[in-house]
Amino acid sequence: MASLFDSLRSARATGSLTEEDWLALRADAEQLFTPGTAIKEQDLFDGRKEQIARLSQRIRLAGSHAVIYGERGVGKSSLVNVFRYVADRSPNNVNYIRVAVTDGDNFREIMFKIFKRLVYLEGDKRIRLADAYEGKDISPDDVLLEIGNLVSSATPIIVIDEFDVLKDEKSKRLISNMIKLLSDEGANATFFIVGVSETVSDLLKGHESIGRAMAEVEMPRMSDQEIIDIIWNRLVRAGMQVNTDALWDCVFISKGLPHYAHLLGLHAMQAACDRQSLRVEMKDIQVATVRALAEANQTIKEGFQNATFSEREDNIFKHVLAACALAQKDNLGKFNAKSVAARLSEIMGEKYDVPAFSYHLNEFCDPSRGSILEKSGDRRKFSFRFKKALMEPYVILECMNRGIITKKHVLAFSPKRQSDLFSN
Ligand SMILES: Nc1ncnc2c1ncn2[C@@H]1O[C@H](COP(=O)(O)OP(=O)(O)OP(=O)(O)O)[C@@H](O)[C@H]1O
Ligand SMILES: [Mg+2]
Repeated sequence: MASLFDSLRSARATGSLTEEDWLALRADAEQLFTPGTAIKEQDLFDGRKEQIARLSQRIRLAGSHAVIYGERGVGKSSLVNVFRYVADRSPNNVNYIRVAVTDGDNFREIMFKIFKRLVYLEGDKRIRLADAYEGKDISPDDVLLEIGNLVSSATPIIVIDEFDVLKDEKSKRLISNMIKLLSDEGANATFFIVGVSETVSDLLKGHESIGRAMAEVEMPRMSDQEIIDIIWNRLVRAGMQVNTDALWDCVFISKGLPHYAHLLGLHAMQAACDRQSLRVEMKDIQVATVRALAEANQTIKEGFQNATFSEREDNIFKHVLAACALAQKDNLGKFNAKSVAARLSEIMGEKYDVPAFSYHLNEFCDPSRGSILEKSGDRRKFSFRFKKALMEPYVILECMNRGIITKKHVLAFSPKRQSDLFSN
């Protein structure tokens, strides 16, 4: 990939890109921007210095394990994927295993998946650990013994991803017990438990007993800088440039979720290639928003339709939802009705007080509209949040496309545009 980009860079310098070069560059956008897959290569991984530092610190201590939790799509799997390259030990000495929990799994099935990926040598024969457990139960003690038997030069880093899919309480407890056991015995292995959750205790029942054995790393949404880096670094790698306003619009829409930075980056880069330009401009972002909408996850699309459906033409469901997406949020993505009122008044061009749309907010929490929002707190101080984080940027895209959110609102509500975040 690098060599193609190098040759494109020199072709660009002489202004000699051929039709085929443009097509190749267009295709390569899909290698750089990967909205559908977690990052696997260190040099495509941006930011997250704080989370990496915390994980590294823990892993330096023998017997340390970590639980990584956060909203859907914030970059949890990517972090654990590239961690093996940034951990202190050389990646060659790390035996990286990742399994994902699937519907109906229990402790034994998860451990069996891990054992299937652990191989040891007996003479010249490669033996899968799982073979000895075919049809047998697996206990936390078995895991401890088997890990103790592994060659100590290769440290296993074992990731149990999609942990929120595990519903069996007993299995969660067994995992906690197992980690406690491995930690107490100082076993040469590191477990990462990864899942969508607001708190660790929601994710891992009985984790209280693990205490110091387990680092808790919350994955917050990305900062403006990190979202800028994702798009900027990839375009620079491809020998391209980007207009400052275009980049800030991507930050505005992405809401700290790297999935959308990739989705917009991909389509904007391809739109620029279609124009045979090496500079991404605002018009490419406009094309990208339309393509991103068309490609968005089907359940997200349907969720929006279902939440805002009305037979009355003059209804304001979409406007209220747009105001929710633009409302001031706390660290957990929560917002209050007052903040919605401020945004809605701007969108409608006249003053809207809370009673004028509290019906809509309640409807958005109702299962009949797919519970797109969830409500917490008490009567005097309710707060709301989008149940699915990925819905928030989608609402912004959809409402921009429908002209409910205009350029005026984008400028008024977008993050403070600091020019020192990149060197354009
Ligand atoms: N640090 C990063 N740098 C660049 N891109 C990233 C980074 N982290 C995540 N991404 C991108 O963001 C998207 C979501 O990442 P990832 O799949 O790791 O998130 P997740 O939290 O594991 O999601 P889910 O909750 O759906 O499992 C992917 O397109 C991925 O390539
Ligand atoms: Mg993931």
